[in-house]
Formats: sequence, C-alpha cells, structure tokens
Amino acid sequence: MKKIIFAVTLSIFILCSNSTAKDNNNNLKKNKEKAIATAMEITSLRSTLARESVLNNTKITGKTFKAVCGKVGKRVKAISKEEGFKIRHAAIKNRNPANAATTGEVNLIQKISNNKKTQPIEDIVTIEDKRYHRITAPIFVERACLACHGDKDTRPDFIKKKYPEDKAYGFKEGDLRGIISISFPIALPMEESPNP
Ligand code: HEC
Repeated sequence: MKKIIFAVTLSIFILCSNSTAKDNNNNLKKNKEKAIATAMEITSLRSTLARESVLNNTKITGKTFKAVCGKVGKRVKAISKEEGFKIRHAAIKNRNPANAATTGEVNLIQKISNNKKTQPIEDIVTIEDKRYHRITAPIFVERACLACHGDKDTRPDFIKKKYPEDKAYGFKEGDLRGIISISFPIALPMEESPNP
C-alpha cells in the first residue's frame, strides 16, 4: 500500500513540475514575442513621427521634439507599466546622459555593428540583484533623423542648449544610431531553498 501511495505521489509531483516547466516555457515564448514586438513598435513609431513632423517642417524646434521623442517616451512608459518590462535606449554616441551605453551595452552595440546584425539579440542580465531576460534590437538612422542627429553645426538651437555634452550628431543615413532593449524577469522553474 505504502509503495502505491509513494508511486502516486511521485507521479503527481512529476506531472506538476512538468506542467510548471511547460508554463514557464510558454510564458518565456510569449514574453519574448511581446518584447520583440515592443522594440519594433517603438522604433517604427519614432521613425513615422520623425518623417511626419520633420519632412513637412522647415524649422525644427522643441515642439517638433515633443511631437517625436516626447510621444515615443510616453508610449515607452505606458508599455513598461502594462507589461512590467524594463525598456532602455542606449548609444555610444548618446544625447541624453542617462542613455550612455554601459560596458555590456557597448559590447552589444559593437557586436551588432560588426556583424551588420538587424535581428534582435537575446541574453540574460542581472539588474538590482534580479535576473532578467533581455531582448536588444538595433536602431538605424533615416533621412528624417538627420534634422537633429546630422551635422554638429546644423543641430537645432534647443538641442545645443539643452544637451551641452551631446555626442549624438554626425550620423548618416543607414548608420547604427543605438539600441533599444526590453528586459523581463526570468521565471524560476522551482522555488530555490534559502539553505543548501
Ligand atoms: C526633432 C529632433 C529629433 C529628431 C527628428 C530625432 N531625434 Fe532622436 N533625439 C532627439 C533628442 C533631443 C534626444 C534626447 C532625448 C532625451 O533627452 O531623452 C534624442 C534621443 C534619441 C535616442 C536615445 C539615445 C540618446 O542618444 O539619448 C535615440 C536612439 C534616437 N534619438 C534616435 C532617433 C532616430 C532613429 C530618429 C529618426 C527616426 C530620431 N532620433 C529623430 C531629437 C531628435
């Protein structure tokens, strides 16, 4: 009898842990797809807005910026909240000091640029002691971006004033401008015991 109970308990345990592993796999797949879709949505939103407001507008002001990157920033905030994603823009030649690439990000940017990679890269990172799955996608420069990321001297005045440490100029169409990364927490397959 004891043997039967043991066998049944063991089977239930195996079945349950299997389904947890399956759930985790499904969740990972869903999160990855969502993260890649988010990177594409944000990048194409910026490019559509830039095309709409820059190519029709001769004078580029702080208002144009709000209509392009301001809207992108709002969408980034909304998705981060909805999905629990950490979304980050980074560049070696950055404009906002908060977007200066970290050592890890510099490596990713170089990897993308050396291999002319356009597909997202996946890796695992630890942020504030928590492990995350990270999806990183490249952002390329288009003609509409040059109004603000082209020649150093022709940058709009509001940019020269607001970003004295600006490095995000001198780009050409097709150049790698930087990266967007989307990170989501890794689901552990099982609870970890606090003591070995
Ligand atoms: C109207 C001016 C303007 C246009 C057009 C514009 N940008 Fe920007 N961009 C800025 C400013 C200003 C910032 C800094 C925003 C901040 O303070 O976070 C910025 C920041 C960025 C960043 C974040 C990294 C960093 O350097 O801080 C990326 C990536 C970027 N732009 C890419 C693009 C791309 C790609 C295009 C074209 C599709 C584009 N931008 C068009 C003004 C512009």
